[in-house]
Amino acid sequence: MPPRFSRLAARQLARPRGLLGGKAMDTLDRSNAGRIATCVEAAAPRKDATTADVGFGGGVGLRTLLDAGAGHVHGIELSSAARGRARKRFRAEIADGRLAVHEGTLQSMPLPDGTLDALISTNTVYFVPDLAPVATELARVLAPGGRAVLGIADSGRMREIGMPLHGFTLRPVDEIVEALTADGALRVVRRDQLDDIVDFTVLVLEPVT
Ligand SMILES: C[S@@+](CC[C@H](N)C(=O)[O-])C[C@H]1O[C@@H](n2cnc3c(N)ncnc32)[C@H](O)[C@@H]1O
Repeated sequence: MPPRFSRLAARQLARPRGLLGGKAMDTLDRSNAGRIATCVEAAAPRKDATTADVGFGGGVGLRTLLDAGAGHVHGIELSSAARGRARKRFRAEIADGRLAVHEGTLQSMPLPDGTLDALISTNTVYFVPDLAPVATELARVLAPGGRAVLGIADSGRMREIGMPLHGFTLRPVDEIVEALTADGALRVVRRDQLDDIVDFTVLVLEPVT
């Protein structure tokens, strides 16, 4: 891909926007639906659980959490294009009070302490240069016994397959684990690697109580 297009594509992955944003989100939904379903399975929300998808992009994770029977889903996004798309696509679920769409990030979620039984966030950590505030925020919003499931593509594999990575912060999964558990507020309870084109890791964290 010529460098100019590669930069444009990377910008859409980091924060979908403008005319190309809809296409970028369609592609994200198509490519990541299976991986996101695996993350929702790992989060194992019980019926009526309060859940969130942080950085939901095209919104397939919101659909998957709703279909899994979660009682309430918080969709948290930095991108106004993604929030607008979710508000249109999930009008009925928002009206029913099953879904709320908020502006926010992994570092700052507009939720009270101890709100969430389960949270998923897939393909988002590459856009966070410093993970320490993410660890603090995840530990804050999770209820005791709650689970955060992060879905992370392998940085080496993303390079090998030629993904546009301009502006990404790429780290090995071990480094991400180290950063998220360093202050002792979170611990890893499960780590699986999918046998797919990006060696996708499903990392399950719980608050240390
Ligand atoms: C590559 S897309 C992934 C979307 C979706 N989770 C998926 O896996 O298909 C990254 C998403 O993360 C959002 N994002 C960017 N910075 C973020 C941050 N600091 N915290 C949470 N989400 C962020 C972007 O707006 C974008 O929608």
